[in-house]
Amino acid sequence: MEKILVVDDEQSLREVLSIMLRRAGYTVISATDGEDAIELIHKEIFDLVITDLRMPKIDGLEVLKAVKSASPETVVLIITAFATADSAVEAMKQGAYDYLTKPFQVDEVQLIIRNALEKRRLTTENMLLKREMASQSSFAQLVGQSEAMQKVFDVVRKVADSKSNVLICGESGTGKELVARAIHYNSARSSHPFVAVNCSAVPETLLESELFGHMKGSFTGAICNKAGLFEIANGGTIFLDEIGDTTPTIQVKLLRVIQEREFRRVGGSQDIKVDVRIVAATNKDLEKAVADGSFREDLYYRLDVIPIRLPPLRMRTGDIPLLVNHFLERFSKESGKPKPVISSEAMHVLLGHEWRGNVRELENLIERVVAFSAEGLVTDADVRGWLHRPTTQSQQSTMPLDLTDEGLDLEGLINGIEKDLLLKALERSKWVKKKAARMLRLNTRSFRYRLEKYAIKGGRD
Ligand SMILES: Nc1ncnc2c1ncn2[C@@H]1O[C@H](COP(=O)(O)OP(=O)(O)OP(=O)(O)O)[C@@H](O)[C@H]1O
Ligand SMILES: [Mg+2]
Repeated sequence: MEKILVVDDEQSLREVLSIMLRRAGYTVISATDGEDAIELIHKEIFDLVITDLRMPKIDGLEVLKAVKSASPETVVLIITAFATADSAVEAMKQGAYDYLTKPFQVDEVQLIIRNALEKRRLTTENMLLKREMASQSSFAQLVGQSEAMQKVFDVVRKVADSKSNVLICGESGTGKELVARAIHYNSARSSHPFVAVNCSAVPETLLESELFGHMKGSFTGAICNKAGLFEIANGGTIFLDEIGDTTPTIQVKLLRVIQEREFRRVGGSQDIKVDVRIVAATNKDLEKAVADGSFREDLYYRLDVIPIRLPPLRMRTGDIPLLVNHFLERFSKESGKPKPVISSEAMHVLLGHEWRGNVRELENLIERVVAFSAEGLVTDADVRGWLHRPTTQSQQSTMPLDLTDEGLDLEGLINGIEKDLLLKALERSKWVKKKAARMLRLNTRSFRYRLEKYAIKGGRD
């Protein structure tokens, strides 16, 4: 339910507005003067503030300024008895949505408020849509014919309409995020937001404010009130990725939001209720983390109501041909090339590979195969050429390099990374060398030198 603050020093007007808006289904709070209003604005977040312009001491323009600095997304409507062009223009300049002249019709106010709130909703939805589009795999299909994957699909279908929390475990690159999205988009919540949060990417204090929001002034840098992702995900699904990396403080707060379905913003004094489905994922062994005390047992059981375990690709090789075909089709379509054919020897090599980076590794490999295949036939030599390079940087971030007693080939490794990044930069810049060089912060000469060193040919200047 949307929350509206009515500010007017005139009691009768305040009451008329409040009654009318309550009847229209809004939650209404009223303030008798500017001072009272500013205090409320700093305590709570309103969807809309409707304020009189002329008030003793603190006037409507100051209230407007306070709202815009505390929570920029709040819509402000100004009421004025003296519709001098000046004051109205000034209010609009400072970010008011519209102004009303007294006396006004009830219908007129209702219509303006409805439109203003609709516009605000669209802005939020638009922001969420952009977030979704930024993560490229949002609508990609899940592919798999192995028994293990069929079981996963079955669970996804069955849990779609329940509210139960889901915990997805699996090695890096096994498709945890894709499964989380499939759960959301197959559920009755699909028209509401899917919000993904990587719990390991941000420090504890930032994560807390990211998840639960904060009030202005609650810490240095909190310059205005901000809604957290739990609020934004209301009605939809929140995907807590890398849940195994959360600190004890965050774990307690998550437990509370799961148990009570409510939470407080950082520095806030009000409990906020939400209806959010939680899907969590981890590549860690959470049972072990529970045993060694680094993960709360109660939280684990609350999350693991519906467990989904994604097996590593090497344990479901039956999915490899299907995935290869799926990625060949996708990447050739994306690059406007005819779909290449994989020789049976090449497929044999793929079936025998260990796939430490799981589906993501296979996906990356096929992307390169498509980018570099000239004749339309992919041979086992092509595949081997791509397979036996050191891991790429993106894989390293999830699979840290380890030095064992066997030692490692440092120079080979570094060369591999260098070549890999050169190719990546070239692909990203559509083989425009100048752009690729800039991407790697190299001058043209040293970029060229490196291309020669690794015998990388082609591209434009
Ligand atoms: N079954 C599948 N069918 C099609 N594509 C898949 C499948 N599983 C994974 N992928 C693709 O592989 C890539 C990795 O998947 P995803 O990001 O979901 O893995 P993850 O388990 O979340 O990995 P990480 O632990 O590293 O975050 C994605 O690009 C995804 O589209
Ligand atoms: Mg992931």
